[in-house]
Amino acid sequence: MMKRFENKVALITGSSQGIGAACARRLASEGCRIILNGHTLDDRGNALIAEIADLGSEAVFLEADLSRADQAIGLVERSIQAFGGLDILINNAGIEKHADFWEVSEEDYDAVMNTNLKGVFFAIQSFVKYCRQKDLPGVVINMSSVHEEIAFPHFAAYCASKGGLKMLTRNLASELAPLSIRINNVAPGAISTPINQELMSDKEQLGRVLKNIPMGRMGTSDEVAGVVAFLASEDSAYITGSTYYIDGGLTYHYQEQ
Ligand code: BGC
Repeated sequence: MMKRFENKVALITGSSQGIGAACARRLASEGCRIILNGHTLDDRGNALIAEIADLGSEAVFLEADLSRADQAIGLVERSIQAFGGLDILINNAGIEKHADFWEVSEEDYDAVMNTNLKGVFFAIQSFVKYCRQKDLPGVVINMSSVHEEIAFPHFAAYCASKGGLKMLTRNLASELAPLSIRINNVAPGAISTPINQELMSDKEQLGRVLKNIPMGRMGTSDEVAGVVAFLASEDSAYITGSTYYIDGGLTYHYQEQ
């Protein structure tokens, strides 16, 4: 059987670890060539490049700070050069900062909004310019969160950024469909990744979180990567402007005891 991503190239931002790295492995295992990205290439990036070679594909790592529009745009341009084209853009890089609303500094607000929303906005813009210029179709997947929809007290900037991402995807789905560019969000709940390190090492807090999840466990990066691969593939050819929740039932869960 033909691999789903044979002759395709994907850029996955923030892919040194966690969900981004899992997406890289998953797409590579189905034949995709991968542009990995992070602030700096370190041992994790090098290990992933080697793993992808073992999977029979190819990867390069491009450094960029995605809180800056110029670097987000430059990353897409360098990605196109790396393998001579770009088919799939996965905006995975994201950060969150915990603080009471009344304590949030402008610096932290900017860091969260710029990485989670502004960088994504301009990366997509750069990709769309390329698709238009070459008259090529494209696929965009944004790593959103269940918090594009539900509240997360003490993470106001994070929720604002993911709420913005929800609306950006809805809007671009309409505007870009005539160009044959599809765009969707995935919305992970509590996944065991580095962003949740603190939570996972605090047994009491973890217990409270698990009580909110009908499946009674956290998700894995591979479970997110499977949905991302579906949305990146032709299996989802008629899907655009949607959000896929990957949350063990968390989002619409309510119980009184
Ligand atoms: C956040 C995690 C949180 C999860 C569920 C994610 O978007 O990054 O910190 O545990 O949502 O609330």
